[in-house]
Amino acid sequence: MKSIKNICCIGAGYVGGPTMSVIAFKCPEIKVTVVDINEKRIAAWNDEDVSKLPVYEPGLDEVVKQARGKNLFFSTEVDKAIDEADMIFISVNTPTKTYGIGKGMAADLKYIELCARQIASVAKTDKIIVEKSTLPVRTAEALKTILNNTGNGVKFEILSNPEFLAEGTAIDDLLNADRILIGGDSTPSGEIAKQALVDVYAHWLPKERILTTNVWSSELSKLTANAFLAQRVSSINALSELCEVTGADVNEVSRAIGTDSRIGPKFLKASVGFGGSCFQKDILNLVYIAKTYGLNEVADYWEQVIIMNDHQKLRFAQNIVKSLFNTVSGKKITMLGWAFKKDTNDTRESAAIYVADYLLNEMAELTVYDPKVSEEQVLADLDYLNSRSENENRKLIKVVNDPYEACKDAHAIAVLTEWDEFKTYDWSKIHDNMLKPAFLFDGRAILDMDKLEEIGFQVYTIGIGAE
Ligand SMILES: NC(=O)c1ccc[n+]([C@@H]2O[C@H](COP(=O)([O-])OP(=O)(O)OC[C@H]3O[C@@H](n4cnc5c(N)ncnc54)[C@H](O)[C@@H]3O)[C@@H](O)[C@H]2O)c1
Repeated sequence: MKSIKNICCIGAGYVGGPTMSVIAFKCPEIKVTVVDINEKRIAAWNDEDVSKLPVYEPGLDEVVKQARGKNLFFSTEVDKAIDEADMIFISVNTPTKTYGIGKGMAADLKYIELCARQIASVAKTDKIIVEKSTLPVRTAEALKTILNNTGNGVKFEILSNPEFLAEGTAIDDLLNADRILIGGDSTPSGEIAKQALVDVYAHWLPKERILTTNVWSSELSKLTANAFLAQRVSSINALSELCEVTGADVNEVSRAIGTDSRIGPKFLKASVGFGGSCFQKDILNLVYIAKTYGLNEVADYWEQVIIMNDHQKLRFAQNIVKSLFNTVSGKKITMLGWAFKKDTNDTRESAAIYVADYLLNEMAELTVYDPKVSEEQVLADLDYLNSRSENENRKLIKVVNDPYEACKDAHAIAVLTEWDEFKTYDWSKIHDNMLKPAFLFDGRAILDMDKLEEIGFQVYTIGIGAE
């Protein structure tokens, strides 16, 4: 049996950073080095002040404090870490392709391929390569072809070990994972590699939660899990629109159906739409794979989840304009929340970006407050969409650090992220300082609608119709 002494992880992002921190924390005898080509990110991971880590996750700072400098290291020396490791995790980004064949759908595997080529050129001893990134089914085959054609006699085993953590609860998800999935070949050397990775996780997780499968099932299971989760969100969001026109309350519908043990209560919260770096990209990837195999009905079925999500963001933004007497030009609208969900500073594909973009095109003047997202990030997200020039964005949008200042003199407030602190605000004070009628659009259904109406707000809550 092979016992792992030295792990390298390529990619110090939202997955690589927290995952490796937990492995190092739980396996003190294994040296874990997380490498990245992004020098700024690595410097932030090494910052003495753990509040400056590049990823915000509850509990992450404590885990990093415990292990960093002992058996957990962050570095830009990629070759050195590859050379020394007996197990290498690849945890780089796999965004949707923005060019060429499969543009707008397929996963862009160029970062994965670059890693494989770098490993192939540097490695002098046998290594286990672990796909941690979410990849299209059969990617391991391509990796194998690149790695096995080096001609230097080094042997590689490839495992698929997709990550199921959710941002915002990553540390808890890693420490108490429902299951760990490890896909690998059923050859003798494949079995040894799988067991080596099982042994790493078995430091803190019961063996029955560590599932082993073949590589293709493992790769496909990750895409499937995300597709099912996103599908539940789009399903309840589709019903939220129906609730609004029929006078039903989507939260009551969710509660009623969620108590059915066959359905379950999770992922049934209506909202302005799902975001994050994974759901959309992974479903598009699934759609692309289905199309590649000529399975058009399968592709259309899953694509509808994305169509519904886009519709939800759009109708939320349209409703703001309609409610404000069909024009928001020159009106101050305050957006509470920019992150794609609470307890993270990640803004990728956040619904807030698309709602803001729509309102800016209507010439609204936006003020944004988010407890964990910087002004630099908000502006970068909008510039990325390329709808307007950078100058135009900067003229129309302001990012402030104080929620009360953010809401002062606003015509309307829109809640885009479900941060807990929003529930604790002095809403009477906020109402006093707004223009009247004071509109409030709760895109996360987190605020007490009755209380706000009593204060005097005109409230729209997603999924709640007038009785
Ligand atoms: N974010 C999540 O919640 C989540 C959950 C499960 C799975 N995943 C998957 O995990 C993968 C990583 O996601 P993420 O959110 O951590 O991405 P990320 O963009 O936060 O991090 C990826 C990092 O890889 C680095 N990188 C890219 N190419 C490199 C190279 N050749 N050498 C060294 N470093 C390189 C980048 O600089 C970046 O810092 C993706 O495939 C994603 O789908 C993400």
